[in-house]
Amino acid sequence: MAAATAKLQEQFDAGLETRADFTIDQPLSRYGAVDHAVWDQLYRRQAGLLAGRANDTFLAGAAQIGLNVAHVPSFEAVSERLMRATGWRIVAVPGLVPDRIFFEHLANRRFPVTWWIRRPDELDYLQEPDCFHDLFGHVPLLTNPVFADAIEAYGQTALAAHARDPRTLTLLARLYWYTVEFGLMRDPGAPNGVTIYGAGIVSSKGESIYSVESPAPNRIAFDLDRVLRTRYRIDTFQKTYFVIDSFGQLFDALGAGVASRLADPASLLDAEPFGAGDVLAGDTVLTRGTGAGWRDEGDV
Ligand SMILES: [Fe+2]
Repeated sequence: MAAATAKLQEQFDAGLETRADFTIDQPLSRYGAVDHAVWDQLYRRQAGLLAGRANDTFLAGAAQIGLNVAHVPSFEAVSERLMRATGWRIVAVPGLVPDRIFFEHLANRRFPVTWWIRRPDELDYLQEPDCFHDLFGHVPLLTNPVFADAIEAYGQTALAAHARDPRTLTLLARLYWYTVEFGLMRDPGAPNGVTIYGAGIVSSKGESIYSVESPAPNRIAFDLDRVLRTRYRIDTFQKTYFVIDSFGQLFDALGAGVASRLADPASLLDAEPFGAGDVLAGDTVLTRGTGAGWRDEGDV
């Protein structure tokens, strides 16, 4: 599937003029009826699934920036609304961009969004991020001022840390993975005591249910050092979710917290990382997973 998708993307991207910062103009004329139908179907399905499961500000934010439409949204129209909310905007890109370029965009309040959208036979799983993952998954919470500041802070810290020592990329990736992509937030009012805010979860039908309802994964209170040392899964649902209390806590971790930790990253880089499913004596465990369905090999 990955090969087929890459080939498709190559074909899509032919003739697109890419700037030095890897941005392009969103090629609106290249979307066909099938693309618009895929957005419509995915949006309605996920909005239905996420009511009561995702953080309250997520669906409100999605509607605020105009994602609740029956076609692939215009990035310019989304950007205008987002700019009014928090001063962020989105920029179209052909796909994954180099790390330094990605961090630079975040540090300047620009979120890169892949322009192309998955095919109808890829609704449930896609190996690389597409427009639905990037736009629906990542952008709604950028309407929240604290979350928006947290992502900018992460971009600035990542840019500096990566320039000083490229080995910190592994640590930065773990932090991003367990928060921005697969984060949960404590919510005593929610049926299972947690709600979803991570983009990798909200853009996935299966993981939207699994992350909050399945007895299989661990749900552990967020701790910066713990997360920086923990490997993760890219091929299956997560074995462990880390749970924040608030976006304020996230801002502290993605901003000053990780900046000070990565000022001298040697001890973190030298330490043996924890497995994706490990539960440690020092953890504050909200739910200890049963581990049902886990495979041992495959942590990255
Ligand atoms: Fe993502």
